[in-house]
Amino acid sequence: MKHFFKLMSFRKILSIIFVGTWLLFNLSCASNSDEKILFFAHSLPTSHPVHKGIVAMQESLNEKSGGKLQIKIFPDGQLGSERETIELLQIGSIAMTKVSASALSNFAPEYKITVIPYLFRDSDHLFKNLEGEVGEQLLASGTEYLLRGVCFYDAGARSFYTKDAPVNSPDDLDGLKLRVQNDQMSVDMANTLGASATPMAFGELYTALQQNVVDGAENNIPSFVSSNHFEVCKYYIFDEHTMVPDVVIIGTKFWDSLNEEEKVWLEEAADESVAKQKQYWKETVDENMKMLKEKGIEFIYPDKTPFVEKSRPVMERLLEDPQLRPIIEKINAN
Ligand code: GCU
Repeated sequence: MKHFFKLMSFRKILSIIFVGTWLLFNLSCASNSDEKILFFAHSLPTSHPVHKGIVAMQESLNEKSGGKLQIKIFPDGQLGSERETIELLQIGSIAMTKVSASALSNFAPEYKITVIPYLFRDSDHLFKNLEGEVGEQLLASGTEYLLRGVCFYDAGARSFYTKDAPVNSPDDLDGLKLRVQNDQMSVDMANTLGASATPMAFGELYTALQQNVVDGAENNIPSFVSSNHFEVCKYYIFDEHTMVPDVVIIGTKFWDSLNEEEKVWLEEAADESVAKQKQYWKETVDENMKMLKEKGIEFIYPDKTPFVEKSRPVMERLLEDPQLRPIIEKINAN
């Protein structure tokens, strides 16, 4: 037992105690007032358009259920990193989370395909796939790991950003220590492009940039801004190497405990929030770009061809996997 606690971070123990206390409190409320509350934890700040999408889901669920089924949101990594919230979901401490598809690829391997550089041609191609058979297959693939996919949110395209060195081609990535998400695919993507990939949790990155632990990172514009990384990094390079979507998931235990009516409320609320979130995304990107220009951030628009060519082995390696090959081929044919 002592050993078990040693293996868990102090923060995680605190999270579990916190959620446990909340759960006890709310369960007693639930039995009195016939309300169910779904705990929803995620790592992004409340100014982020993905958080606003989750709030839209919360409001719509409240309205549809007349308050009988509610969502309580814990934003900003309050309950831990994405890996930790996925684990909290698996052990049933929280009901829902929103993570990057990258983070899910550590648990449900089909999600690996979302981290293939330049697989999706543009936003239309991405959503055509996510809102069709491929998306259905991905969302369902988590169920055997107790992680039922609910919907995808727009997370734009990810590009590199650096503190001191402008990057115009993959050659300029050589020797740069760049933070990537904590999964094998993200590490492979950045290393194949020539960088020195440094995986770490999103919440640790600001300090890591400030203290020169890394020379830069990669992310979409709203995350670059809402995390304040733009205060430390002067160059944003629009190489747009991946379009990794965000995914809302619910623990299968919680899903199975809902009755048919509650499941429909939740599904409808999620669908409605997807449309709203796309709108919030566009508005935020426009506002953020304006602000970054005013702050003097240098935007670099490199020729993407050498990035596409250099990163191709990432897809070639996954094509050798008989489970992933048909999904990649379907996306390429779409
Ligand atoms: C995006 C994504 C987050 C993820 C973050 C990261 O912002 O929306 O879910 O945590 O990237 O790079 O870790």
